[in-house]
Amino acid sequence: MARLKVGVLISGRGSNMRALLEAAADPAFPAEIVLVISNNPDAGGLDVARSFGVAAAAIDHRKRAREAFEADVGAALRAAAVEFVCLAGFMRILTAGFVSAWQGRMINIHPSLLPSFKGVHVHEQALAAGVRFSGCTVHFVMPEMDDGPIVVQAAVPVLQDDTADSLANRILKAEHRIYPMALRWAAEGRLTVDGNTVRLADAKVIDSVVIAPE
Ligand code: GRF
Repeated sequence: MARLKVGVLISGRGSNMRALLEAAADPAFPAEIVLVISNNPDAGGLDVARSFGVAAAAIDHRKRAREAFEADVGAALRAAAVEFVCLAGFMRILTAGFVSAWQGRMINIHPSLLPSFKGVHVHEQALAAGVRFSGCTVHFVMPEMDDGPIVVQAAVPVLQDDTADSLANRILKAEHRIYPMALRWAAEGRLTVDGNTVRLADAKVIDSVVIAPE
C-alpha cells in the first residue's frame, strides 16, 4: 500500500522530527517523510533530515511577510505532494487560513498534558503549579495555539527535585515515543475527529492507575 506522504515543519534541533524519521526508516511504517521545512535557516534539524536522505528546505520567515511565508511553505508542501503535516518544535504561529487548509491533516506535539500549560515556559508552569504529573500531547492543529482534538498523551511523574530542564528531558523521551505512534495511527486511517474528541479505531483498553509521589 502507498505510504502517507508527510511534511515536517521544524524550527530547531528537531529531535521529534528525528523520532519520526527513525520510525519511517522502517519500510513497514505506513508514512514516509518526504520534506522537512524550517523557518529558521540555522536549525540543526535540517542537517539531521538530510542525513536521512530527506529533502530539507529553509524558508526564512524574517525575509517574508507572514502571508508570503505561509504561501511559500504551502507551495513547497504541495510541490512535494505532501498529504499530511507534522509540526515538530515549529515556533511560528500559523494563520487561520493556513490551518484550515490543512485541518484534519496537521498535528502538533506539545510538552504538557493539554489543556494545562499552553504556550512557552511550559515546564516552569508545571513546577509552579505543583502538579505530580506532567507529560506531552499530540493534537490536531486548530487556529488557537496549543488547542485542538487530542490524539494521544503520555504522563510522566514530576519528581521533587526536578528543574525545568530535568522535567523537560523526561518529557522529551515520552514525546519521542508518542509522536511516531500518532503518525502511524493517522497513516493507518484509524483516527476520526468527532468534535473535540479523537476516536482511535481498534484501541486497546487501558485501565490502570498510576500514583505519584508514592
Ligand atoms: C519539544 O518539546 C516539542 O514538544 C515542543 O518543542 C520542542 C521541540 O524539540 N513543541 P525538538 O526540536 O523536537 O527537539
